[in-house]
Amino acid sequence: MRVGVLTGGGDCPGLNAVIRAAVRVGARRYGHEHVGLRRGWRGLLERETTPLDRDVVGPLLARGGTILGSSRTNPFKEEGGGEECARAFADLGLDALIAIGGEDTLGVARRLHGELGLPVVGVPKTIDNDLSGTDYTFGFWTAVQIASDAIDRLHTTAESHDRVIVVEVMGRHAGWIALESGLAGGAHAILVPERPPSVAAVCERIRGRRERGRGYAIVVVSEGVELVGEADEGAVDEFGHRQLAKAGVADTLAERIEEETGAEARAVVLGHVQRGGTPVAFDRSLATRYGMRAAEMVAEGAFGRMAALRGERVVDVPLDDAVSALKTVPERVWERVEEVVAGP
Ligand code: F6P
Repeated sequence: MRVGVLTGGGDCPGLNAVIRAAVRVGARRYGHEHVGLRRGWRGLLERETTPLDRDVVGPLLARGGTILGSSRTNPFKEEGGGEECARAFADLGLDALIAIGGEDTLGVARRLHGELGLPVVGVPKTIDNDLSGTDYTFGFWTAVQIASDAIDRLHTTAESHDRVIVVEVMGRHAGWIALESGLAGGAHAILVPERPPSVAAVCERIRGRRERGRGYAIVVVSEGVELVGEADEGAVDEFGHRQLAKAGVADTLAERIEEETGAEARAVVLGHVQRGGTPVAFDRSLATRYGMRAAEMVAEGAFGRMAALRGERVVDVPLDDAVSALKTVPERVWERVEEVVAGP
């Protein structure tokens, strides 16, 4: 079989590890031949390919980013884009396609399979961890590690100056990165998009700390949190998503904290550093297991499905399960974390 491989959407640590495992297992166990499509769905539409064999993928396990490049191209944005994908698929002589991506990329994969019958399998990628159908997406724990390392460093400088530092993390409309990095980094308050933010409650906590002689505080805020009166429609990408970093929630929150508590406050936006560099061991291993499963799914003809982690097992689930609803932080999970974060 000739198998196309593409990576779409925001890059994420572990993409290359998936490619490596899918190519190694596909070639060795099943005799598959692989071809990389450049920059996500754009590479399919433009028929821009790059060779993928065992020599190319050999050194990729720990390498960040994606050797295939990525984009947020949405073929269904243009009339007839899906049919054009099907033509390109035939022109390139493909028998199957492995699409590695998040909600948007896998949403396209689902439609190409469901509406046009293309033999596509999916692999769940995103630092946001907001895909349903799987316990974890690869890349998430690397982003959490990067953010919690940063929070550790911010504690010492915040304490030295009796400052409040507001740390903005990524995650779009899911608060998983904020929750886990705030928990691991010992934040004094965590704001996630799933819960209406209360600036008053955060300020109250900061005042309480100051009264107890603790002049500093770390507040972790997810980029998707909308403070009352600060909603901003802004420009959107091809899938209709706003660039949330431009909303500047950390800056606004730091200003309000300063006004209401009198404490000196600073905002730190971690941004794309959370997506950069080598994956942590868990993500290398998970990405490898996903890549292996993707090769098996191609060989088994398990199309329209996505590799998924369920407990300790990597299984496969319908793409529908993955993209029909965002996986956000449930109330009960938030409450358990909040109990510890709120302190005495
Ligand atoms: O989905 C991954 C993600 O990093 C989000 O957390 C963030 O909102 C978005 O991508 C940023 O996108 P871009 O790289 O286009 O700025």
